[in-house]
Amino acid sequence: MTEGAAPVLRARGLDVHVPLRSGEVLTLGTGLDLDLARGRSLAVVGRSGCGKTTLLATLGLLRRPSAGRLWLMGEEVTAVPDARAARLRNARIGFVFQDCSLVAHLSVLDNVLLPVEYGAHVRRRDARRAASAQLEAVGLAGFERRRPRQLSGGEQQRVAVARALVRGPQLVLADEPTGALDTSTGEDVMAHLLAACRQSHAAAVVVTHDDTVACALDERAELRDGALHRPVPA
Ligand SMILES: Nc1ncnc2c1ncn2[C@@H]1O[C@H](COP(=O)(O)OP(=O)(O)O)[C@@H](O)[C@H]1O
Ligand SMILES: [Mg+2]
Repeated sequence: MTEGAAPVLRARGLDVHVPLRSGEVLTLGTGLDLDLARGRSLAVVGRSGCGKTTLLATLGLLRRPSAGRLWLMGEEVTAVPDARAARLRNARIGFVFQDCSLVAHLSVLDNVLLPVEYGAHVRRRDARRAASAQLEAVGLAGFERRRPRQLSGGEQQRVAVARALVRGPQLVLADEPTGALDTSTGEDVMAHLLAACRQSHAAAVVVTHDDTVACALDERAELRDGALHRPVPA
């Protein structure tokens, strides 16, 4: 499979599980199939505790599937060594979480630059230009020198979106990115997230409780009883 033609994300028969201290295994998803093309967005909904965060961690190579296969940009990543998984995460995947976890003592610009610092071979000037462009894409041009505490919750979450996108990831994984925001601020953050993904042709998987958020995405699936249910097209 060549990289250009391959979906950004492909899963076949994926099992998602959590090993428990007791030695037992909690299985949260079985036989999951997923295809996500470049520039497409998928909402994953489901009741609290059904395994959405664990699924996202598996798709983001933070944990390994217990069965099934997973590909990222055509490369099989089902059982890649940890070092390769870390490199792939850094170069190809952007994460946004509910608690956007900005570093309080760093400026907005330096927060956005954090993923670049971990990546090799990027000139500081180019990195700053990329970070400023991402801030502009989320409507925060001119906010570079502020500290996180000088921003509203929605603005902080937009900084987290800029940070997730600064290295030009092919895949953005967002775990309830609007969960801590009021409805209209959440819609604003989602609009910026989707616009920024669209601009860079990144695919996005967004875990959400919010139907309005889910409806703004291209596709939607509900994780229920360990399976992904897609709505029957009208
Ligand atoms: N490390 C862990 N140890 C024990 N149980 C866990 C662990 N991680 C997740 N779980 C359990 O797995 C279930 C699914 O968790 P999670 O993926 O966070 O669900 P969701 O994001 O849909 O709310 C929950 O019941 C949770 O308590
Ligand atoms: Mg969760």
